[in-house]
Amino acid sequence: MASQGIEIKGLYKIFGNRARDYVDAVKAGMTKAELNEKHGHVLGLKDINISMPAGGITVVMGLSGSGKSTLIRHINRLIEPTVGEIVYDGADICRMNEKDLREFRRHKTAMVFQKFALLPHRTVIENTVYGLDIQGVPRADSVKRGQYWIERVGLAGFEKHYPNQLSGGMQQRVGLARALANDADILLMDEAYSALDPLIRVDMQTVLLDLQAELKKTVVFITHDLDEALRLGDKIAILRDGQVVQQGTGQEIVLSPADDYITAFVKEVNRGRVIRAKTVMRPLEGAPDGLRLAGSATLESAAKRMTEAGQSRAVVTDEDGAPVGTLDLPTIIAAMVTPAGHETEKMAAE
Ligand SMILES: Nc1ncnc2c1ncn2[C@@H]1O[C@H](COP(=O)(O)OP(=O)(O)OP(=O)(O)O)[C@@H](O)[C@H]1O
Ligand SMILES: [Mg+2]
Repeated sequence: MASQGIEIKGLYKIFGNRARDYVDAVKAGMTKAELNEKHGHVLGLKDINISMPAGGITVVMGLSGSGKSTLIRHINRLIEPTVGEIVYDGADICRMNEKDLREFRRHKTAMVFQKFALLPHRTVIENTVYGLDIQGVPRADSVKRGQYWIERVGLAGFEKHYPNQLSGGMQQRVGLARALANDADILLMDEAYSALDPLIRVDMQTVLLDLQAELKKTVVFITHDLDEALRLGDKIAILRDGQVVQQGTGQEIVLSPADDYITAFVKEVNRGRVIRAKTVMRPLEGAPDGLRLAGSATLESAAKRMTEAGQSRAVVTDEDGAPVGTLDLPTIIAAMVTPAGHETEKMAAE
């Protein structure tokens, strides 16, 4: 398991030759549009502060041009910051010398790209071990490791195929196997699933979640899709014009969107997949009996379990399995219909 998170602190990125000269103006409130019109510089990122937990998936979301790729590329320093820090394992990535940076990139990070970035003249296994080849790992070792990851992503039997013989979803499985074969703690995924058909995309999310449950890497996942963000993200940060407009759990964002921009994003969301049983349960009264549900269960899965068991009421338990509340079907249904403002805030605080 990855033991180190990533701390992004006060990160600014201005594109242009005299970027540093305009940091103060941006700090004083100059907008992206003004900076562009007056000085021909592009504000990529403004005062980004995000703590990305070790062993968790942090999703960065936002519309096209909001700065998502700029942000993720700072983490392996494909882009140099104008000012700011990115701390990993006690060191500021932005200040690493060339040697340390090379080590960090090779051994600590792996990237999965939207366009798969597979080498067309290499087979599946050869693509999978590509990073290991570069690291100088002997072929016997690398092929063994590559084979393991090919099996884990569900591609056993396709080792000798070439990328153009595979569907998009299968190619992305190769991209994932290649990233995992690196054994890096940090997995950087920039719109990795955005080119896939919706059903294949959901399959790939499942592959990632299943592997992550075991591997617990520190994953940074970029998407412009809210459903994907909510399904994958232990934490979600929403960018707009290079700034973080809100960050928190999916439930926090859906239940109390910070502004109209985010409200518009979350309006159509399936609340039953986001809100947790413990958020809407009632306090425990008397001795609990009957069906038991984990407090972390989504309302959708809670309703399903209760329906299957023929029960309209269940006992909610904490992480240790101790009863902490009760939940009934009418409460679940009420919570799945958008509640009034004050209730929303109350729920988000829980
Ligand atoms: N090398 C560059 N030079 C100048 N401006 C740049 C450069 N790279 C990115 N930008 C600008 O920075 C802003 C953020 O771009 P970025 O590619 O990070 O957005 P994004 O959120 O990844 O968008 P998309 O969803 O389209 O991938 C945009 O205004 C973009 O035009
Ligand atoms: Mg991008």
